[in-house]
Amino acid sequence: MKANTNFTKLPQSYLFSEVAARIRDHKESNPESEVIRMDIGDVTLPIARCVLDAMHKGIEEMASTVTFRGYGPEQGYAFLREAISEGDYKSRGLDISPDEIFISDGAKSDLGNLGDIYSPDSVVAVADPGYPVYVDTAVMGGRGGDLTESGRWNKIVYADSTPENGFVPRPPKEHADVVYLCSPNNPTGVVFDRETLKEWVEYARREKAVIVYDSAYEAFVDDPAVPRSIYEIPGAQEVAIEIRSFSKTAGFTGLRCGYTVVPKALKASGENGEEVSVNRLWNRRQSTKFNGASYPIQCGAAALYSPEGRAAIKENIDVYKSNARYIKKKLSEAGFETYGGEHSPYVWARHPEQTDSWALFAKLLKEAGISCTPGIGFGRAGGGYIRLTGFNTPEKTREAMDRLGKVDF
Ligand code: MLT
Repeated sequence: MKANTNFTKLPQSYLFSEVAARIRDHKESNPESEVIRMDIGDVTLPIARCVLDAMHKGIEEMASTVTFRGYGPEQGYAFLREAISEGDYKSRGLDISPDEIFISDGAKSDLGNLGDIYSPDSVVAVADPGYPVYVDTAVMGGRGGDLTESGRWNKIVYADSTPENGFVPRPPKEHADVVYLCSPNNPTGVVFDRETLKEWVEYARREKAVIVYDSAYEAFVDDPAVPRSIYEIPGAQEVAIEIRSFSKTAGFTGLRCGYTVVPKALKASGENGEEVSVNRLWNRRQSTKFNGASYPIQCGAAALYSPEGRAAIKENIDVYKSNARYIKKKLSEAGFETYGGEHSPYVWARHPEQTDSWALFAKLLKEAGISCTPGIGFGRAGGGYIRLTGFNTPEKTREAMDRLGKVDF
């Protein structure tokens, strides 16, 4: 076959694969070193009992011809779509109906798969730094152009997040058709305020763009002044798709379940400028290419909307947030500038004397046995920074920060 050369244009490996490979190399050369993982945002607390019980029940149903289930609806079971519509939207005053919610096997897949429904020549805009899946999948879909010496793709529009704008990116001057935004942000941990999010919604309306709003970390927000959903901004249902995940909120990184909201009010333009329903396009894509998330996993996800499920989520998130606060405090004591770590599991940091992300990654790994994620891996504007996660256990987090406190920067 002939290769899809969009793939061959990409750097050799995905950021988190590269980080994992370097940790493996370090362990091979230093078998005695016990590395504390603070790089990838993988959770460590166990799954809530009510979720396990619901999954057991779902599995047991497979044992009888009466309750057995084969293929489920590609869009997800009604019981979960209804629980999400009520629990995450209607109860918060947002009118999102079950048929606007599509259950997935996680946010990452949908973030990539959405590229199927945009026109191939769409201009993509991203915040820099940003979750690498946005840029990588734009390039895979032929929307990146070429990688320039500056480390940026010449067809992608970048909105920088910098200390000057408080890591809250503003809409660019250039036109874009598809905009990826993330709040609470991965990697910076910073959240959008309502006013700035409004500016993005206005930009999307003006440019006839769609915003893909990654709110995988929304459950970390507990300040009512901070938006948890883009649909809190009037008019956003006409311009935004929202993507959420149970991974970080309920420990589903290994179980795999998330959802994507595609409002019926959202329209794309067709060949002759006519309106095309994006909900219908996405439904068509999903029914052809996806057979739905696993039934027992969806049973487990639905249990998260019970009072026990809600309490379990809060308990886990409180632990991760307390870890993040601790990391932030200890990094500051060690002379780092820090951002995020408040409505987020992520702390974004920079040391004035150590301004090469990969060199700082290597130093922490070698001298403290701590792995972090180098900020440059999230984009050019992430150069010089590192990201640490609060997803390890409180004990390991404290040990990691004790080790960090002994490093000479
Ligand atoms: C991260 O560490 O940024 C995330 O865990 C990666 C992911 O969710 O795929």
